[in-house]
Amino acid sequence: MQLERLREEILKLKAEREAIILAHNYQLEEIQLLADYIGDSLDLARYSTKVKGKVVVFAGVDFMAQTAAMLNPDKTVLIPDPEARCPMAAQLPPELVRAAKLKHPGAAVVLYINTLAETRAEADVVCTSANAAQIVNALDEEEIIFGPDKNLAWYVQQRTDKKIIPLPDFGYCYVHRMFTPADILLRKEEFPDAEVLVHPECDPEVQKLASHICSTSQMLIRARASPAKRFIIATEIGMVERLRREFPEKEFIPALETAVCQQMKKHSLQKLYESLHDMKHIVTVPPDIAAMARRATERMLELSGRATSD
Ligand code: 13P
Ligand code: SF4
Repeated sequence: MQLERLREEILKLKAEREAIILAHNYQLEEIQLLADYIGDSLDLARYSTKVKGKVVVFAGVDFMAQTAAMLNPDKTVLIPDPEARCPMAAQLPPELVRAAKLKHPGAAVVLYINTLAETRAEADVVCTSANAAQIVNALDEEEIIFGPDKNLAWYVQQRTDKKIIPLPDFGYCYVHRMFTPADILLRKEEFPDAEVLVHPECDPEVQKLASHICSTSQMLIRARASPAKRFIIATEIGMVERLRREFPEKEFIPALETAVCQQMKKHSLQKLYESLHDMKHIVTVPPDIAAMARRATERMLELSGRATSD
């Protein structure tokens, strides 16, 4: 089907099914343009609790769609391509968390939202890249088991006196690991007036070169507020496309054009149409796991105000 026709059909189906479309900032432009709401993990988790209607189509990766499903047990949550799975989320199975709790009985468990429901059920509280340090500092415990992203754990450790115990000790996002200090330095040499916005999933040596370390949506907030006219962006390429669309008067330079999350890009308008048409790829979380994971996710929403960039 042609793109324009697909759009019309999706809008028709959306109305019939009382559906809304949520999309992460890394989604293809064709999906973002049709979405009711676009955001980072925190925005999307928050927004999904406010939506009316019966169906949520979630264009993002597995853990994000699971978050929407566990926060909305009365709605049907669809994911256009069920193979859109975040490899970092898969790096932390629940057994590892259970073993770490036995080893550090006094520690709180703070898990990045990039974890699957069965692992998240083991957490005291969840966090996102927008509020990780804020959540850790809001807790009473002085020792924090933190996973799965080791770079985000490092970022938090720079902003707290508490002891951060990364779990596992190798957790990473393959997309953000592509960025090197040389990528940033090269761009800075070319554009010395540019602000450097870096996602906290990047390596510490890359983070150290940032003007601001931001979640994806915090990059939008910073780009709007900043007097700078140029920005070097170190995160997935979809974010650069969104920034260019939102702020055509400013210039956004990708630190690395090849930083593409293959899993996020699995969704397409055709797949979105098919999932809504056939009501297929329903995201389900077993009720006992959902209840525990929801508790940790809701605690994050309670503890977190509107976080801004560094
Ligand atoms: P944000 O919450 O900053 O959008 O990050 C999600 C993610 O998966 C980054 O790779
Ligand atoms: Fe997972 Fe990295 Fe893709 Fe984000 S960019 S969804 S952390 S693989």
